[in-house]
Amino acid sequence: MSNQLTFDVSTIDQPSSFKDERFDMIHQLYTEAKQDRLAFWNNQANQLVWQKKWTNTLMWDRPHARWFSDGILNAADNCLDAHLTTNAKKTAIIWESETGDVVHITYEELSKLVNQLANCLRADFNIQKGDRVTIYLPQTPEAAVAMLACAKIGAIHSVVFAGFSAPSLAERIKDSSSSLIITALDANRRGKRIPLLNMVHDALKQTPTPHVPVLTVNGGGENDFYSRINAQPTQCQSEPMASEDPLFMLYTSGTTGQPKGILHSTGGYLTHAKYSTKLVFDLTPSDIFWCTADVGWITGHTYVVYGPLLNGGTILMFEGTPDYPNKGRFWECIEKHRVSIFYTAPTAIRAFMKDDPSIPQQFDLSSLRLLGSVGEPINPEAWHWYYRTIGKSRCPIVDTWWQTETGGIMLTSLPGYHPMKPGVAGAPLPGLSIDVLSQDALSLQNTRGFLSVTEPWPSMTRGIWNNTERFKDIYWSTFDTYFAGDSAYKDDDNDICVIGRVDDVLNVAGHRIGTMEIESALVAHDAVAEAAVVGVHDDIKGQSIAAFVILNCNHQESPALLESLKAQVVTSISPIAKPKMVIVTPELPKTRSGKIMRRLLKQLVEKTPLGDITTLAQPDIIPIIQKKVELS
Ligand code: WT7
Repeated sequence: MSNQLTFDVSTIDQPSSFKDERFDMIHQLYTEAKQDRLAFWNNQANQLVWQKKWTNTLMWDRPHARWFSDGILNAADNCLDAHLTTNAKKTAIIWESETGDVVHITYEELSKLVNQLANCLRADFNIQKGDRVTIYLPQTPEAAVAMLACAKIGAIHSVVFAGFSAPSLAERIKDSSSSLIITALDANRRGKRIPLLNMVHDALKQTPTPHVPVLTVNGGGENDFYSRINAQPTQCQSEPMASEDPLFMLYTSGTTGQPKGILHSTGGYLTHAKYSTKLVFDLTPSDIFWCTADVGWITGHTYVVYGPLLNGGTILMFEGTPDYPNKGRFWECIEKHRVSIFYTAPTAIRAFMKDDPSIPQQFDLSSLRLLGSVGEPINPEAWHWYYRTIGKSRCPIVDTWWQTETGGIMLTSLPGYHPMKPGVAGAPLPGLSIDVLSQDALSLQNTRGFLSVTEPWPSMTRGIWNNTERFKDIYWSTFDTYFAGDSAYKDDDNDICVIGRVDDVLNVAGHRIGTMEIESALVAHDAVAEAAVVGVHDDIKGQSIAAFVILNCNHQESPALLESLKAQVVTSISPIAKPKMVIVTPELPKTRSGKIMRRLLKQLVEKTPLGDITTLAQPDIIPIIQKKVELS
């Protein structure tokens, strides 16, 4: 995989308002990091409040990093208590519900709620440092309260996106052996109510620990969230955490059917969360920062909760969806709350682009000063639309590349410093070393290769929960350095353009889904003998899912069966994993050694040239599948 690329992208200067103030500051950061990387990270870690300072910056025993390891601190203290003397009355969270209700929560109020819940976790549920707590909540302030309360007492939170179905939730509760579930009676989704508590009950039945307690917002009864926490004092002694103690785990999809519990540390993660939020988004005290990601994803962890709060910022948290009850909902939120920094996903931008262009024009977007994009490559057309229609050509765009595993933003052009190149994420942040490598680990320029982080960094994942071997194998067996699983190329200015995954991981509307997970869900259906899933190009979602199935002999293809196969995926994983098309085929294209050639299936659906099919065991299956694709 090394094809020469011609590189031709337009370069756009930073809007003038950003240039002068930030240029010298950023130049200084790059210079310091280049001179002494560890001293640079010491400075960043020093921006946090430590109960005990560290003496040891980095201990590196590949692939295990220990950053600031003899230091002691607490994440909730850094996010909340640290601001109480100067900013107690400042709004920490502005929350807008799907129905349009607005709640403002100050740092003082948030801190009290967190302390009350932390006390409740200790006193009522005997949660101790290191215990795992699963959080399965909608995009409401209680989600942030629950995360921070865990952090306060040193429990490891595992937030599960509330769009996941019971079997997926069960798998995550089981793998993490959680001691408590925090959920809500239901979630609002486009005017409907999703019964989260029922889902938790279903999930628990599928675990070896069906009697794990469930604390429920609006649940009533003895484990009602507010009844419990209202009975608790508003002061709480925080747990002293060693820098390397885990702060949280977050499941993400990989190339097997089993999701990976990605672990993050306390000191290193918080260092990068605080630093990257301030640097990339230029966060200042008067900003209203809106990151549209759900707290169930890493973006929600780092740029809804930890990063903004560490910096004493004000965040907007929105429960709803971009187009409900009307297609102007996002822009209405920006106007209403005077949002100044807006961070969203390319899939949302492309969906807006398809709508009537007059919709955003009906709103006052003049409060915006910076825009961001994350989750997948942003195509230049969408970039330009975002820049012109939303940012009115006066707001820089940060196209931020990172991953659940990296903990925070790794690559982007920095406002006021780098010229912007639509479609190109940009340069590593000061302090990070990232390169594009050939299969032989040689640094490549203008040639497609593999993206690798070449030096340890503070917020790097500390591993996969309960699976060190898998951690080593996935990230550390390809190169000596961290292998990200993405392909990329680096241009003459050393800016990096990330192209996409090189493994069997799909990116559907910015959501990471493993093909194997979907295949396992399909073969669990009575009718299915074998399944192969591929991601195919989709104008809005980036990729959509095409599933090929071979039926068991006593089953017949019918529209009802195809629907039930789609439903099977929805109920066992999530609506986000629902295949766009299911194609029944008598055989799958396999090599003589029996490996399914998913590449061919993808090419058949996308109608691109098939290339080499000589390694196929049964080449005559291709026209048969081709016909089925045309008919579907
Ligand atoms: C994968 C990580 C980062 C938080 C949200 C997703 C893709 C992410 C970009 C970008 C090109 C991107 C990569 C990466 N990705 N941002 N700006 N340009 N690709 O986190 O679920 O861990 O997924 O998303 O393929 O590996 P995630």
